[in-house]
Amino acid sequence: MDKLVIEGGRELKGEVRIAGAKNAALPLMAAAILAPGQTTLHNVPDLVDVGTMAEVLEGLGISVDRRNDAMALDATTITSDTAPYELVKTMRASFYALGALVGRLGRAKVSLPGGCAWGPRPVDIHLKGLEALGVKTQLDRGYILADARKMRGCRFVLDFPSVGASVNLLLAAVAAKGETVLENVAREPEVTNLARMLIAMGAPIEGAGTTAFHIEGGHSLNAVDFHVIPDRIEAGTYLAAVGRAGGDVTLVGANPDHLSIILDRSVEAGLKIAVRNDRIRVQSSGKLHPVDIQTEVFPGFATDMQAQWIAMMTGAEGSCLVEDTIYPDRFTHVPELIRLGANIAMRDNIAQVTGPVKLVGAPVMSTDLRASASLVIAALAAKGRTEISRIYHLDRGYERLEEKFAVLGAKIWREEDE
Ligand code: EPZ
Repeated sequence: MDKLVIEGGRELKGEVRIAGAKNAALPLMAAAILAPGQTTLHNVPDLVDVGTMAEVLEGLGISVDRRNDAMALDATTITSDTAPYELVKTMRASFYALGALVGRLGRAKVSLPGGCAWGPRPVDIHLKGLEALGVKTQLDRGYILADARKMRGCRFVLDFPSVGASVNLLLAAVAAKGETVLENVAREPEVTNLARMLIAMGAPIEGAGTTAFHIEGGHSLNAVDFHVIPDRIEAGTYLAAVGRAGGDVTLVGANPDHLSIILDRSVEAGLKIAVRNDRIRVQSSGKLHPVDIQTEVFPGFATDMQAQWIAMMTGAEGSCLVEDTIYPDRFTHVPELIRLGANIAMRDNIAQVTGPVKLVGAPVMSTDLRASASLVIAALAAKGRTEISRIYHLDRGYERLEEKFAVLGAKIWREEDE
């Protein structure tokens, strides 16, 4: 198991290329199940989670061939309808195989995802939506068995604009004969990226990027070449690192439209932001104003940026409140940030962050993907050495993180953890 070692206290300078989005690549890879032939995805990030989804697809009989950031997925023949517990337990997004297999084979056997570091993450909306489409589902020893022989179009209103449920129901509904209307769907750019790929594959879908999808199902779908959108959370993570440590960095290959609320709040916090096409220049003196945040579904402030924002706000002159309305228990990073000297008080799902504090390096532990990113941000600004253990969490969602930060002038390296 590896750890990251960081000698903090250096400003960050230069350019960093933003990779394709993990949370877009995973649904697009699942969509390849729907069409016989070779789907080719471009701008695919090199991440552990992408590797896990590739294993899920290979288990179904799909060949996966990766060349640099392109990935060829040949789904001409599907030999299995099962996504096993061993893979789903390591990555919840494997559950997207359910909607796609229902769409392609009319049946599926997919392990039910368990909880995660911050509590239960139910999939009731996924299952309710499939039932509304006429898919019979039952739980059998930890697996969802789905029978879609009677699947047909319907109107379904999601109780909550869940990203995962919107993905699974889109993947199934494109195969359901007749019209399906999905209301209160997620508007996250990653879901829109999937809807646009399905349209390119031949599925008549209206409403991509809005709160409702109108889908004419049952059309035969073709394999396509398609691009993964840039990772707005990776971009936001580098922005927060510059914000806290100070410096002048340009994020290359980002999509500013996907980051607008994060950019607005960053300007309020005292960062200088200049946008030109897919280049976002971020400048910070390290002197910050406290800015309250409440996480919301897109286009609101992403819960996947909550931990990074808290880390940045440890340098602000005064107090701010950071509330997570999507995952009320998503604060496992707080005790670790306090070990680095942060001043954070928790009340229910609200963190009160008071600064500016002089962070000092110490050994800390990653608990999940974005929590570990917040520890990296704090460690880069901290005086002295920080060792972050269990960084397999980071590798799930950040491509070559220490190399990218080293190019920006950070003193950061990976070591085996005894
Ligand atoms: C996606 O998770 C992302 N994962 C998460 O990013 C992100 O935090 C989340 O959306 C919210 O933006 C991927 O895209 C792979 P949801 P997902 O279904 O689909 C409740 C990261 O760091 N809910 O939108 O699991 C749920 O409990 C990861 O990259 C139900 O109650 O999120 C939560 O409170 C972490 N029933 C809320 O909705 C359901 O059936 C949002 O969940 C489904 C969800």
